[in-house]
This record gives sequence, structure tokens and C-alpha cells, in this order.
Amino acid sequence: MSSTNATMLATHVEDWSGDMGERWLANLDRFESMISPVGDALLARAAFRPGEQVVDIGCGGGASTRAIAASILPGGRVTGVDVSASLIAEAARRAAQDGLTNASVLAADAATAAVPGAPFGRLFSRFGCMFFADPQAAFVNLGRLLHPGGRADFAVWAPARGNPWVSGLMGIVRNHVEVPKPEPGTPGPFSLDDPDHFRALLEGGGFTDLDFHFWQGKQLVGGAGASAASAARFVLDAMSFGQLLADQPAAVRATAEAEIRELFVAHETPSGVIMGANAWLVSARRDG
Ligand SMILES: C[S@@+](CC[C@H](N)C(=O)[O-])C[C@H]1O[C@@H](n2cnc3c(N)ncnc32)[C@H](O)[C@@H]1O
Repeated sequence: MSSTNATMLATHVEDWSGDMGERWLANLDRFESMISPVGDALLARAAFRPGEQVVDIGCGGGASTRAIAASILPGGRVTGVDVSASLIAEAARRAAQDGLTNASVLAADAATAAVPGAPFGRLFSRFGCMFFADPQAAFVNLGRLLHPGGRADFAVWAPARGNPWVSGLMGIVRNHVEVPKPEPGTPGPFSLDDPDHFRALLEGGGFTDLDFHFWQGKQLVGGAGASAASAARFVLDAMSFGQLLADQPAAVRATAEAEIRELFVAHETPSGVIMGANAWLVSARRDG
């Protein structure tokens, strides 16, 4: 078996401002519908109120930014921040289309950016904080975006092992290619999966009152209504799993795709491919 140069699902900020951001944009509705159950749970925990001033970190195409904008009327404002200029342009377009004049966007690296309107009362992030090159410095910067006592709500993926939709796919990828374990601290979707590590970063960033909730739910892999075949293609074309196999011969990639399709057939329903997913929903307050 050959190995891959790609560390397990590592994703860096440069990927998001480039290829990965473009792939997310090209498949925006599928990605957003796939992760909407986690987003809904995080929004319910955050319980935004009219008048609040909010920053949405790593807002992508802005589904959560728009949901927040609608929930803080009248008087509230939300700013979505994302490192991908293409995603930010789409987030702005969709907010304008929905007439949400209390939503603005900023194309910037949240690890270092000074965001107009800061300090905010609330910070929100659905899967947007796992890709910082220097996470400790980034969480110090995020802390600075909040005023003392301000509240942050984060969703991050729980460990791949035991996370049904990921472990099934990784098992198949590993049938074909050796995937090196990431160095601790490597940016990527699972970089904050260890609560002790995440807790230390938040405390180092000046956050307190940390609350970790283990969310276990179901999600539609490949988006609402996807067949097993179309979800398998989506996973290989749009997600990092495909990159892990990118250097393999076409026959290997075709076999992996057939195995993924078979995995998904077992979870196929009229609504789409439904698989279990685990995430940490974490709330914290800015010290002071
Ligand atoms: C998994 S996507 C989630 C997007 C969005 N929050 C959602 O739930 O639909 C991660 C997002 O974080 C953004 N991102 C990654 N690193 C970032 C950084 N350092 N600063 C700002 N945005 C970043 C990416 O461009 C991408 O849009």
C-alpha cells in the first residue's frame, strides 16, 4: 500500500483562501444542508436576542450569519468574517438577497484581524476556528473581539474515531493508502477535538466559564436528497477525503468510490444519506 503526503484531513488557512474555499463555494448548498443540524443546535444554545452585536468567525457562505441577523432584530448587527474572498462575496450577496441590512461581511484572517465594530457582545463560529496556524495567538485575538463578559459559542468536530460518518469514510480511505497521523496542533477539522487542548487555548485567550456539550446527532452526508452515488462523488470531489486519494491510480480511486457508495447505500433514505455525527458545542465568556 502506498502512502499519501497529505496528513489526515489537514486543512490550512491558505487552502481556505484558495482551492478549499472554491470547492466549498461550488458545493455551498450541499455543505450547508449537511452541517445544518449542528448549526441549529449551536444557534439554540446561543439563544441570540434582539439588539445584540455579534461577530461570526469563519462564516463561509453565511448561512449562520443570516440566521443570526434575523434573530437579533430589531437593533442588532452581525459581522461575518472569512478568509475566503469568494465565500465572503457570496455571503454578502445572499444577505442582500434576503434584505438583511443588519449583516455585514469582512474578508480577513480571523487569527489576526481587527474587525470593525469590535468589541462585540457575542462571538459565534460553526466549524470556523479549527484551521489557525497559531491557534493560541488566534484565540487571544478572538478574545480581543469581545468586550469583557461577552459570550462566545463554538462548534468543532468531535474526534474522528467514534464519529460515525468520518470513521466509516476514513476506514475506506485507509484500505488504499497509509495516512500519517497529524502532528498535535496541525490545523484541520479535528484540531480542536480534544476538550483539554481546546480548554487550554480558550483559557490562554482570556476566556472563562467554559462549558463543553457533547452533541450527537444525524446529518445528511452530501446534502439533502443526495443519493448514495451522488454523496460518494461529493465526498471525493469536494471534501478532503478525495485529496487523500488524489495521487492514487484511477483504478484505486474507482474502487474507493465504489466502497464509499456501498457504505452510503446502507444509510440511504428518501431524504438523503443519513449518518451519525458528533461535535463539541462550547460556550465561554471573555474574562473581566
Ligand atoms: C468548515 S467551513 C464552515 C463555514 C461556515 N461557518 C458554515 O458553517 O457554513 C470553515 C470556514 O472557515 C473559514 N476559515 C478558515 N480559517 C479561517 C481564518 N483563519 N480566518 C477566517 N476564516 C477562516 C473558511 O474559509 C471556511 O469558510
